[in-house]
Amino acid sequence: MKTLIQNADVILPEGQLRTNVLIDGQKIAAIDPALHTRADEVVSASGLCLLPGVIDDQVHFREPGLTHKEDLHHATRACAKGGVTTFFEMPNTVPSTTSQQRLNEKLDLAAKKSLVNYGFYIGATPQNLDELRNAQRTPGIKIFIGSSTGDLLVDDQQALERIFAETSLPIAAHCEDEGIVRANQQRFAGQSDVAVHSQIRDHQAAWVATKRATDLARRHQHRFHVLHVSTGAEVALFAEHGGLLTAEVCPHHLLLNIDDYPRLGSLIQMNPSLKTEQDNQQLWQALLDGLIQVIATDHAPHTLEEKQQPYPASPSGLPAVENSLALMLDRVNQGRCSLQQIAHWMSDAPARVWDLVDKGRIQVGYDADLVLVDMQRTEVILNQQQQTKSGWSPWHGQSLQGWPVRTWVMGREVFRDGHFDLTVRGHEARFDHARGGYWSNTS
Ligand code: DOR
Repeated sequence: MKTLIQNADVILPEGQLRTNVLIDGQKIAAIDPALHTRADEVVSASGLCLLPGVIDDQVHFREPGLTHKEDLHHATRACAKGGVTTFFEMPNTVPSTTSQQRLNEKLDLAAKKSLVNYGFYIGATPQNLDELRNAQRTPGIKIFIGSSTGDLLVDDQQALERIFAETSLPIAAHCEDEGIVRANQQRFAGQSDVAVHSQIRDHQAAWVATKRATDLARRHQHRFHVLHVSTGAEVALFAEHGGLLTAEVCPHHLLLNIDDYPRLGSLIQMNPSLKTEQDNQQLWQALLDGLIQVIATDHAPHTLEEKQQPYPASPSGLPAVENSLALMLDRVNQGRCSLQQIAHWMSDAPARVWDLVDKGRIQVGYDADLVLVDMQRTEVILNQQQQTKSGWSPWHGQSLQGWPVRTWVMGREVFRDGHFDLTVRGHEARFDHARGGYWSNTS
C-alpha cells in the first residue's frame, strides 16, 4: 500500500519544508516537493504540519493486573489519538516485569492488542541481577530508587552499585530519596490536605536521589536516563554529562505547580510531586538549553474514584498520552518553542536515548510513524472524550490550539479525525544498544 501525503509542512531533521512524503508499506519511501507518483491514497495536507510520531518513553498502561485503571486497548487508542506512535512501558504492573519471561508475556500481549508500537522496560529488584544482565528485547532497566505505585524499590547502596557495575543495558530511574520521603511522611502524618504531598516528596528528596543516581552512573561509566525531573535544581547535575547522562521532563512538571492544588486537588498528586512555578520556568529553560533532552508523559492512570479518596489514600499519577502533543503544540502557538523543538524532544531524542532503530525522524528509509497536525484547530479537553480507561484528564476544560488530526503507525493510518482503525497493530520496537545512546547516536 502506498500513501502520498501532499504539500504538508514537514518537520525534517534539518528544518521545516513544504513537500510531499510517500509511504510505501511500512516505510518512508520518498520526500520530494516535485514528487508525482501513483499511490493508493493521496492525502491533501495543505495547511497542515507533518511530524514524526511521538515516542513516549515513560508510560504505565497497567496490563497485566491493574486493568480496572487502564489497559492496552484503551491506552493505545489514546496514543493513536494523541499522535503517540511508540510507547515504552514501565514494569510496575501486577506481576511486575522483573524477568525475561514477564517481559516476553507483555510483548505477546501487546502484539495482540496494541494499536501502536511498543517496548517494555525490565524492572530492577535487589535480587534479579542475572535477569537484568541478560535481558533482551527491551529499551533498558528501570530502577525505582524511591518507591512509588507498586512495590518495586532498590534503595540499598550495595544493590545499586552492583546493578550499575554489572549490567550493560541503559538504566532509567525514578529519583526520590526514600529516607527523606519516609521521614517527611512521619512529619506530616495525619494531614489530609493533598498539598502536603509536595512537602513530603520535596525538592531535597528529588535532588538527593538524582545526585546519588548520577554519581553512580559516572563512577560506573554507565548510560543513565533521569526520568521525570521535577526541580530546577536537579538540572545542574546534568551539565557535565560525559556522554552518558540524559534527562526528561513531563508536561505536568512544565505546566502545573503547587498553586494548582486548590483547583485540582489529588488529580495532580503524582510522584515526583509538583513543585513551584519557578521550577516550571527552570525546567522549560533546561529543555531550551539542551540540558533536558526528552519530553515524556509518565501516563499513570487511576480511576477517579481512587483519586478522590482523601490524601494520603489517594494514589499518585495522572493520564496524559492523548493530550501531551496537543499541550506542546499549544505552546508552539504561544511562541514558547518551535515545532522543530517539539519533534526533537518528543521523537528524535527518545529514539536516540534508547537506540531505537529507524524511528524518530521523517527521513527516507525510516518507519512511517507519522502524525499530521492542524496548528489552527482549537479544541477543549473533555473528560467524556478521553480514550484512557480512567476516563479523565487533569486538563479537563482547557482549550488548546494545535491538535493531531491523523496518525500513521508503520504506514497504516490508525487515527483520522476522531475515528480509529482498530485493525491496525503496532510492532515491537527494535533496539540496537551498540549505538551508544543519545550523545553518540545521530542516525
Ligand atoms: O505518580 C506516579 N505514578 N509516579 C510514578 O512513578 C508511578 C506512577 C504510577 O504507576 O501510578
